[in-house]
Amino acid sequence: MKRIVFTLLLFLCVSLQAQEISIIPKPAEMYLEEGEFSFNGKVVICYPEIKDGCVDAVVDNFVENIKKTTGVKLVKDRLKDGLFLGWDVQEVAKKGDAHIVLYVDEYMGKEAYRLSVTPKRINIAAATPAGFFYAFQTLKQLMPRNVMAGVCDENVKEWSIPCVFIVDEPRFSWRGFMLDEGRHFYGKEEIKKIINVMSAYKMNRFHWHLTEDQGWRIEIKKYPKLTEVGAWRDSKVCAWGDVKPDGIRYGGYYTHEDIKEVVEYAKERFVEIVPEVDIPGHSQAAVASYPEFLACDPENKHDVWLWQGVSNDVINVANPLAVQFAKDVIDELTELFPFGYIHLGGDECPTHKWEHNSDCQALLKEIGSTNYRDLQIHFYKQLKDHIAKKPAEQQRKLIFWNEVLHGNTEPLGNDITIMAWIYADGAAKDAAKRGMNTILSPQIPYYINRKQSDLPTEPHSQGYGTETVERVYDYKPMNDVPDELQGKYMGVQANFWTEWVVEPEVVQYLMLPRLAAVAEAGWSNAERRDYKSFLERLQGEQVYYRLLGVDYGKHVFK
Ligand code: ACM
Repeated sequence: MKRIVFTLLLFLCVSLQAQEISIIPKPAEMYLEEGEFSFNGKVVICYPEIKDGCVDAVVDNFVENIKKTTGVKLVKDRLKDGLFLGWDVQEVAKKGDAHIVLYVDEYMGKEAYRLSVTPKRINIAAATPAGFFYAFQTLKQLMPRNVMAGVCDENVKEWSIPCVFIVDEPRFSWRGFMLDEGRHFYGKEEIKKIINVMSAYKMNRFHWHLTEDQGWRIEIKKYPKLTEVGAWRDSKVCAWGDVKPDGIRYGGYYTHEDIKEVVEYAKERFVEIVPEVDIPGHSQAAVASYPEFLACDPENKHDVWLWQGVSNDVINVANPLAVQFAKDVIDELTELFPFGYIHLGGDECPTHKWEHNSDCQALLKEIGSTNYRDLQIHFYKQLKDHIAKKPAEQQRKLIFWNEVLHGNTEPLGNDITIMAWIYADGAAKDAAKRGMNTILSPQIPYYINRKQSDLPTEPHSQGYGTETVERVYDYKPMNDVPDELQGKYMGVQANFWTEWVVEPEVVQYLMLPRLAAVAEAGWSNAERRDYKSFLERLQGEQVYYRLLGVDYGKHVFK
C-alpha cells in the first residue's frame, strides 16, 4: 500500500513538474531534468561585454523585472573580456550561491538560444541580444506568471524553477500580429499590453494599421489636417446594414511623442513595428482632410467615412501633389519608426474614380497600359524610388497586400514583400514565383477578429465565420510549397480588423488565446506542433492574462 501511495505521489510530483513546463511556443528541443534552481540566496548574473554593450539592456531589463515582480535582487557582474564558449568559468562559481551565466556562441542563429538550468547554475548561450532575450522569456515562463506580466503578486512567496535543458530557435523570422486602429482608436496603453503578450510568445513584428477610410491615426507634421480632420468622425459605430451612424463625435490619434514611447517599448521587447498607411485605397479619411489635391473629384464634399465596407473615395494617383504627399508621409514614418519595413497597404482599392477622371485616363495611356490597377503600381514605383534615394540608415523595404499582384508588378521589381491574405496560399506562391518575399496571413483562419466559438457569450465581431482556437492552431503554413520557393516565405501573421470592435477588451478577448496558436506556428517546427499538447500548455496562461489585465476567450480553459 505504502509503495502504491509513494508511486502515486511520485507520479503527481513529476506530472506537476511537467505541467509547470508550459512553454509557448514549444521549444525545438526540451529535456526535463532532476532538481531545481532556487532564487533564494545570492544569485549572480555574469554576462559578457559584447557588441557595444548591447546585451546590457537585455540583462538590465531582466534584472529589473525580477526585482519588481518578486523582490529578488540579482547581482550583476559584467565581465570585461566576455564569456565565450569554452571559457574557463571556475572563477564565476565563487561569486555567489548560484549563478546565471551568459555565453556568446557566434555560430548560433540570430534568434536562437540554449538554456541549461541546473541546481546551482543557469547557462545561457546565444549569438545576439535577441537570442539572450528569448532565453530570458523562456526562463520567465518557468517562473510564477506574474513575472511575465511584469507585476508583483503578493501570493507568490518562495519559488524555484525546474532543471531543464532547452535548445531553441524559430522556424520563421517573421512572427507577426496586425491591429487595425483606423476603425477604432485604442491608445498606447492598449498597444503596450499587446506588445507585452506578443513578446511573451516570442512574436517579433507588430503591424500597426494606422489609416483607414474611417480614421487617420498618426500625426504627420507636414499635413496637420490629417489628424485635425481625418482622425475624427461623426459616429462611434462603423455603420453597416441596419446599424446607422449614431452621430457621436469620435476618434483619436497618436502624436510623435506617443509613437516614440511605443517604439521604445517595442524595441525593448524585440518587437519591430511595421507601420501601415493604406494608400491609395482605404484612404477616405485622408481625402476628407485634403480633398483639394487628394480627391479625384475635389469639387464634391468629402467626409471621414462613417460606414463599413470599401469606400470608392480613393486618392487621385495622377495628381503630382498626391504623390508628393505620400513621399512626405513616408519621410515622417521613416523618422519615427527605426525598423526595416513600411507597409503601404494596397488591398481592396476600387479603380472606379480613376476610370472617370481625365488625368488618370491620360496617365494610364502614358504608361502604356489599359489595366487601371497599373496606376496603383505606378504610384508605388515613385514611392519606392523616393526611398531608394535615401541614405543607408533610412532605407526601408516595402510590403503590400496581395492584390498588388493583380497589376503588372514588373516596374516595382521583386524586392518587395507580399502579405498574402485572400486565397493566401495561392497568392503567396504567386509572389514567391515572381521572386518576392511573402508572409502568410490567411483570412481563414488567421483573421482572429472573427468569433472563436459558437457560444452565446461571444461578442459581435467582424466576419461571419467562427475560427476556433483549434482551427487557428491547425493551419499549416507553407504546406505543399516546392523546395525552391520555400526561402521566400518569411513567416506568419495574425490580423485583427476592428469594424465591429469598439472596446479594447473585446480586442483582447478575441485575440487571446488565439494569438498564442499563431505564435507557435511561427516559432515551432511543424513536426513538433500538436494541438493537445498546446491546449495543456495553455492552461496556466489565464493567470498571466488576468495579472496583465487583459480579457481572453475562456472556453478553452478547464
Ligand atoms: C484585408 O483584409 N483587406 C487585407
